[in-house]
Amino acid sequence: MDIAAQYGPLRPQIDEAVKEVLDSGRFILGPNVRALEEEVGATLGGRPCVGVGNGTDALCIALQACDVGPGDEVVTSPYTFYATAEAIARLGATPVFAEIDPVTYCVDPDSVAERIGPKTKAILPVHIFGHPAAMGRLRTLADAAGVRLVEDAAQAYGAAEAGADACTVGDLATLSFFPTKNLPGFGDGGMVVCADEELAERVRRLRFHGSTDKVVFEEVGYNSRLDELQAAIVRIFLREVGAWNEGRRAAAAAYEASGLGEHVVLPGSAPDATHVYHLYMVRHSARDQLRAALGEAGVASAVYYGIPLHLQPVFAHLGHREGDLPIAEECAATGLAIPMHPTLSPESVGEVAAAVAQVADSLPAGAPS
Ligand SMILES: Cc1ncc(COP(=O)(O)O)c(C=O)c1O
Repeated sequence: MDIAAQYGPLRPQIDEAVKEVLDSGRFILGPNVRALEEEVGATLGGRPCVGVGNGTDALCIALQACDVGPGDEVVTSPYTFYATAEAIARLGATPVFAEIDPVTYCVDPDSVAERIGPKTKAILPVHIFGHPAAMGRLRTLADAAGVRLVEDAAQAYGAAEAGADACTVGDLATLSFFPTKNLPGFGDGGMVVCADEELAERVRRLRFHGSTDKVVFEEVGYNSRLDELQAAIVRIFLREVGAWNEGRRAAAAAYEASGLGEHVVLPGSAPDATHVYHLYMVRHSARDQLRAALGEAGVASAVYYGIPLHLQPVFAHLGHREGDLPIAEECAATGLAIPMHPTLSPESVGEVAAAVAQVADSLPAGAPS
């Protein structure tokens, strides 16, 4: 991230918005939250949106609104942040991990189809690193099986597949406004995007202790409310996120044009996908050595999801072994995020690409095929 370059020009607007909230004395679920819900919804075909405390709560609430509970299974990706599967387990249901696509790193619809069974209640794809999951095919699968489709769009506001925006194909979709996300806030925050008003009503009730009026409590819910300061800030960033996503795509195009793909595996994209490059994940078989050498060369990099979820200790009871999901395991072992942000200049891309290429070529193992 380059905080100064991204937020510096917006500082007067941010200061003014914060001041207005402080002066208003309204701090939780006030006018800014309502406005943000409407403004995000307006960009997503008018879908009703509900602001919540964070992206993890958004997932739990969305799954509960689908009546996911003990005894149910939810088919999801093993190559994602832990919160995706944690939400399933939190509700007492079982995550069923499907294999991922080696190009997009999103869940593979053929593998999902194999795992749908009588206990399946929902499919939970993740638009990982900003690449949209194969939503058209997953929608068809969900409809044929009579199960819900929930999109984890924490990393992918603005992504699209075949012209359909992320968050507009599932029955429900979730966003995170964690500060590193491509649509960020300055703290915790999240949103549930709903296909219809009936689901939205349930989600609104769940975010406030399962009650609509603070008098009658209809189900066990959450205290998961978006606050006014975050909503006011995210409203400003919502106006910028289109240009920021363009900046990310331009940086990705510059990485491709640099010839970096001859030294490491670059992130791929489905032909009909609009990628927003929340992260720029390259792959190399000597990933850990690459990372260490890049650090010495002054280039920041990070490993994401180095242990795929099916092999995490918390899910040991599911009985998975190494080799069960080889593509996810390969990506977890070889993936490395290199610098990516909306204001990454062509010169910086050139410098990073040159450093990565030089280091990668000096390592004993070649790039994975
Ligand atoms: C794919 C994914 N899902 C869910 C979450 C959870 O969001 P939050 O950190 O806002 O709870 C995150 C981010 O942390 C994420 O990357």
